[in-house]
Amino acid sequence: MSERSRVAIALLPLMLLAGPGAAALLAADPPKEDGKALYSKKCAMCHGAEGVAKPTAKGSANLNDPEWQKKTADDVIADVIAHGKNKMPKNDKLTPEQIAALVAYVRTLK
Ligand code: HEC
Repeated sequence: MSERSRVAIALLPLMLLAGPGAAALLAADPPKEDGKALYSKKCAMCHGAEGVAKPTAKGSANLNDPEWQKKTADDVIADVIAHGKNKMPKNDKLTPEQIAALVAYVRTLK
């Protein structure tokens, strides 16, 4: 066996150990944007905690309507959130991560 493969074999357990360790570190990364908290703060007063439109969201689909969910693409939802639509105010202070978290949360309303 060459010296090189000996070294490679000696390092193998180390590499195996680093794998799950690295994964655990990634999982402990700073929490992602909290879509639920953002929704309660910025959307629920019009769209309802469950996604059922209140009078202030007149003209909007119920966000928990499975038909609406099916026919509406993520980027359409992201666009309405960012730029608003008619009576819906725009959210130009939200980061792309926050908008993505909101879209993901809206997807859970069904
Ligand atoms: C001041 C009330 C108000 C707030 C706050 C608000 N919306 Fe809206 N939203 C509306 C109205 C009104 C419409 C309908 C716009 C139209 O089509 O005329 C709408 C439309 C939408 C639509 C499109 C629905 C459809 O019929 O296709 C989505 C998605 C949406 N809002 C998500 C959100 C999210 C997520 C938030 C929080 C970041 C939010 N809205 C905050 C009033 C609001």
